[in-house]
Amino acid sequence: MAIQWFPGHMAKARRQVQEKLKLVDFVIELVDARAPFSSQNPMLHQILNNKPKLVVLMKSDLADPLKTNQWLSHFKEQGLKAIAVDVKNNKDIKQVIKSANEVAKDKMDRLIRKGVRPRAPRAMIIGIPNVGKSTLINKLASKKVAKTGDRPGVTTAQQWIKVKKDFELLDTPGILWPKFNEEIIGYRLAAIGTIKDQILSLQDIAIFALEFLKENYPERLVERYQLDKTEKDMEKIFETIGRLRGTLESGGGVKNEKVAEIVLQDLRQGRLGPITLEDPNS
Ligand code: G4P
Repeated sequence: MAIQWFPGHMAKARRQVQEKLKLVDFVIELVDARAPFSSQNPMLHQILNNKPKLVVLMKSDLADPLKTNQWLSHFKEQGLKAIAVDVKNNKDIKQVIKSANEVAKDKMDRLIRKGVRPRAPRAMIIGIPNVGKSTLINKLASKKVAKTGDRPGVTTAQQWIKVKKDFELLDTPGILWPKFNEEIIGYRLAAIGTIKDQILSLQDIAIFALEFLKENYPERLVERYQLDKTEKDMEKIFETIGRLRGTLESGGGVKNEKVAEIVLQDLRQGRLGPITLEDPNS
């Protein structure tokens, strides 16, 4: 598999998350609703040590609602509390607060039974880069909290944000990297824009996306690019999209790199409609 993060980086990120975990009662794990499996972090489970967890499927506005429901049922079957969120929707933000309280309640009750003085539960947000951690923290804080960036090692003093009277949230999220055990995970994350485009070739990512769309959402391709549903030849598909969008070389040929860019931007910004790249059972 060609994609690999720097092992040193990953180990450091993991250590930092482990340190921060000591400070909190529960975690809010963000995954991308368009690829809830691939955007999970397999390391998290190992370091969580039975701490309660709320799973938040972010960017639900860009995901296929039917698939999102399947994913929510899947998490529930695993005994996890999970909700789907579009950060622009205030009702969804309220739901995060409500669900976070539910997740924290058992733990806090246990502490009180042990004689600990009642206090607000403490949480941290954890997720892979670009999943929406800063955006959600800002929404929960109702103000802009400085972004520390995705580089482990960039540490600032931790602060607690009061989320209404309900719980306290660490102002800096925990960043864990995705792990690619399979190549397809890399392509799914690249298609939704989580992995920088330099890691995999833009054209390969676009081909992956177009193949997936042809198989699963063919009507969207017909609608947006006037493609023939039966067209199987990828070169012809690129050609049709390129001609439609006028991305031509001086000699009249289609600029494939530009076509790839157009397709991926359309997909990532929801212009091909809400799309989910994986099923709970796939
Ligand atoms: P991170 O801290 O986990 O790295 O992610 P960050 O909050 O920076 O969010 C990454 C991108 O995802 C941002 O877009 C953000 O607006 C977008 N995003 C977060 N939550 C949602 C959501 O529920 N729905 C949609 N559609 N997008 C969401 P960006 O283009 O990088 O920045 P900007 O356009 O917000 O400036």
